[in-house]
Amino acid sequence: MAVLEHLTSQQAIDLENKYGAHNYHPLPVVLSRGEGVYVWDVEGKKYYDFLSAYSAVNQGHCHPKIVGAMVEQARTLTLTSRAFYNDMLGKYEKYAAETFGFDKLLPMNTGAEAVETALKICRRWAYQKKGIPENQAKIIVCENNFHGRTTTIISFSNDEVARENYGPYTEGFVKIEYDNLTSLENALKSNPHVAGFLVEPIQGEAGVYVPSDGYLKEAKALCEKYNVLFIADEVQTGIARTGKMLAVDHENVKPDILILGKALSGGVYPVSGVLANDHIMEVITPGSHGSTFGGNPVAAAVSTAALEVIKEENLAQNAEELGELFREELNKFIPSCDLVVKVRGKGLLNAIVINDTEDSSTAWDICMALKENGLLAKPTHGNIIRFAPPLVMNREQLMDCASIIIKTLDEFSK
Ligand SMILES: Cc1ncc(COP(=O)(O)O)c(C=O)c1O
Repeated sequence: MAVLEHLTSQQAIDLENKYGAHNYHPLPVVLSRGEGVYVWDVEGKKYYDFLSAYSAVNQGHCHPKIVGAMVEQARTLTLTSRAFYNDMLGKYEKYAAETFGFDKLLPMNTGAEAVETALKICRRWAYQKKGIPENQAKIIVCENNFHGRTTTIISFSNDEVARENYGPYTEGFVKIEYDNLTSLENALKSNPHVAGFLVEPIQGEAGVYVPSDGYLKEAKALCEKYNVLFIADEVQTGIARTGKMLAVDHENVKPDILILGKALSGGVYPVSGVLANDHIMEVITPGSHGSTFGGNPVAAAVSTAALEVIKEENLAQNAEELGELFREELNKFIPSCDLVVKVRGKGLLNAIVINDTEDSSTAWDICMALKENGLLAKPTHGNIIRFAPPLVMNREQLMDCASIIIKTLDEFSK
């Protein structure tokens, strides 16, 4: 089979099954094109994308400005490594730092790498600035967290599927209940060697759990009280997804360390980063951390364009307005439908909870029916379906999507 030969969906699926590692269980749809809120499969069927590559494609598929920036930069200079300076990185670092209100950016590629980077910065800060004895630093994390797939990160996950048989695990993490300030204070009080508190402002992967109002603000205040760094993982919630530039902005919280990824590039290129002020970031010194691709000129050009698009197209405001509308439409329908317990979320990061057991296939079967009806979504953790369309959606498209979802759920519950 020639590499560029046109494939049917089944042929493409068969190839992945035979030659690719089976670390995902995709919905059986093979996509070959995307534009804005739409994607097309290889047979030409058009779908609304209601996952946005796990919130990476906030700016819409193949946004011309972002793709244009990438193509132009790719023709000029792609990679220098950090052995040399390049003429794009400094401009991008300034723009990103000013956009999010921090002194400095440390550029990486994937979300997990940025989380690892934040953990390293936090530990160094603990030893060099807080005076915690060597190798004693603890970082508080939350139950049901999702921060990525590296060995250290899965060490503090409680998702057994993600952890099983990958030990020995990395030490130095204390797990507490999410959205529970008493647990946080107890953990801070009972351990003198806490360096940081790592938290998702909304737990996306766990099923879009929105904490109680005031949780983040109070948690930040507790961190200040105990001289502990508040580390916000906004890889999924950041960059306008929840109706503000950052999810912590809903409570006017300024993290000590901010982790970004996914939509930092609009989904066209792997770009992530960690932001902090000088008194924290200065613990990073030459040779103490790095990445061959981190901060490359293409990433710098792409990410600058991706952030500009967010601002120019008012995507945070659009997410806020359309998110309200989406939940309103679903809430009108849910009382008449035994199949759905509730809809929850913020901005355009939402989920519905299906009225069935965690191990049932109902959520998956609904996603299959949604696919037939022209909308792509995926269950997250058993009986929860996440709905996260690109933020470039308009009101009419959103109403169309809400009616596809309602019609599908209605048919399904009969
Ligand atoms: C909150 C959060 N942190 C980190 C990650 C890991 O990002 P990546 O898959 O780019 O490594 C994810 C991915 O879903 C995430 O949702």
